Amino acid sequence: MRHLLSPLDFSVEEVDQLLNLAGDIEKNPKKYAHLCDGKKIATLFYEPSTRTRLSFEAAMLNLGGSVIGFSSAQSSSASKGESGADTIRMVSCYADICAMRHFKEGAPMVASMHSSIPVINAGDGGHQHPTQTMADLMTIRSLQGHLGNMTIGLCGDLKFGRTVHSLIKALTRYENVTFILISPPELRVPSYIREEVLNGHSYREVISLEEVISELDILYMTRVQKERFFNEEDYIRMKDCYILDMRKMRMAKETMYVLHPLPRVNEISVEVDSDPRAAYFKQVQYAVYVRMALILTLLDLVPEEFR
Ligand code: NCD
Repeated sequence: MRHLLSPLDFSVEEVDQLLNLAGDIEKNPKKYAHLCDGKKIATLFYEPSTRTRLSFEAAMLNLGGSVIGFSSAQSSSASKGESGADTIRMVSCYADICAMRHFKEGAPMVASMHSSIPVINAGDGGHQHPTQTMADLMTIRSLQGHLGNMTIGLCGDLKFGRTVHSLIKALTRYENVTFILISPPELRVPSYIREEVLNGHSYREVISLEEVISELDILYMTRVQKERFFNEEDYIRMKDCYILDMRKMRMAKETMYVLHPLPRVNEISVEVDSDPRAAYFKQVQYAVYVRMALILTLLDLVPEEFR
């Protein structure tokens, strides 16, 4: 039995296969409509979510399966003091696979140790978000035709933004990727990312987006993660530190695509939405195909031609 806890749990070849499968799902949705008949996914969400939870649920429904779950810690027995280990033992009796989002780093990993069904990490604290990364990779690959050979700017809250940590990890495995990390000094990527993940790769840290935007092939914008700040004043001081607008977009390449895991707050002005380079709503659609492909893979239901 396999879980997905970190973006590196799948090899580069396996990620390729997953994205190929997701691409086929996009083209031939009918072929996949009953592959999960009779199967259930449990969505165990201890932290708020719109996209991730609904897209896991849509993914399972598109495959013919069904969904059970909860959407906040308050509405689960966690509020009575039940441990994650007990919850997952029980959920293993109800469902065939589960997606867990938790405010504690490592909670899905602990759950996987007590689970008899595959566990998918749907975001753990400020740590990782591997399924968002798969959606990001599919978006980049479909826009550029390849992964690798690119300069990517990651902008905003690089300290607490788990999607950033996971995407950096995943992209270090491709050839010739230059990372430009754009953040205020207080929101730099954690030192373990610099020392263990980016070490030996081409990267630089800058404060100004305008200074580097013309170099980028991909711009990955992120929200300042309000819920992970220790005090409100720091959040208020930093929340609007980057706002991508059409003035800045005019300085960028005609082929520089803008990604954002969403939700957006103020960091991308709505005028950018109609620019053909805005790819963040495409990302949402790709995320459903990728999650369908992932459910099939972890349940060992992948059609023969994609094995
Ligand atoms: C992200 C998350 O939850 O980490 N959202 C998502 O899953 N698409 C990004 C965020 O909350 O800022």
